Amino acid sequence: MKSIVVFSGAGMSAESGIMTFRDMGGLWERYDVTEVASPEAWEKNPQLVMDFYNQRRKQLLQCEPNKGHTLIAGLEKDYDVQIITQNVDDLHERAGSTKVLHLHGELKKARSTVDESLVYTLKGGELKLGDYCEKGSQLRPHIVWFGEAVPAMDQAISLIQQGDMVVVVGTSLQVYPAAGLLNFIKKTVPIVVIDPDTPKFSAAGNITAIRKKASEGLQSLSTD
Ligand code: APR
Repeated sequence: MKSIVVFSGAGMSAESGIMTFRDMGGLWERYDVTEVASPEAWEKNPQLVMDFYNQRRKQLLQCEPNKGHTLIAGLEKDYDVQIITQNVDDLHERAGSTKVLHLHGELKKARSTVDESLVYTLKGGELKLGDYCEKGSQLRPHIVWFGEAVPAMDQAISLIQQGDMVVVVGTSLQVYPAAGLLNFIKKTVPIVVIDPDTPKFSAAGNITAIRKKASEGLQSLSTD
């Protein structure tokens, strides 16, 4: 069965009402990333960091997968589909996709600050100071912050090298090492880039740009 690797970013969830980071009015225009999404921020003001993610988690609970997520899930009928996402929402999974690798963590999860293998799904949605892991340490958002390593990167490289086709959707390709994944795609493998804007990337190869929103651009790929 032919394999498709989907590499998605915040634009994938834009039509579900989730703000992107670098578009006009995006998240990083409203928040200083060093104040809410870095280990230094967590050290300095854990409550502010907690509030930032609690707010995004609360918003996520109001959002539904959009047609783009559903179209990608539908591709599993005819293809072996592996998603590598920079998104921390669970909309790919909720749309029915079964193989999703989160490079930058998951908003609905928290992890121990003394043992990163201890990861918990947040039931209510709120994470508070005083919420401890089974080893008695404060829980933190299960998010890869700026300046932290991306533990799933090696797995992502191996996955993207196996794709017979790569679909890049809704990412500005400005954040590394994630954006560097494109350099691991074999030159003969077709790459489709779906984005109303034209992300800047240097990867050579067999690239087709579809300058449309995710739901429209993915329609043209769908086999229905
Ligand atoms: N459909 C498809 N693409 C869209 C849509 C849409 N409806 N709306 C916006 N886009 C595109 C924008 O043109 C842009 O290229 O989505 C991209 C969003 O880029 P960013 O906001 O930079 O998001 P992303 O590339 O996912 O950021 C990567 O940066 O802040 C970190 O960890 C965070 O995972 C994130 C990483």
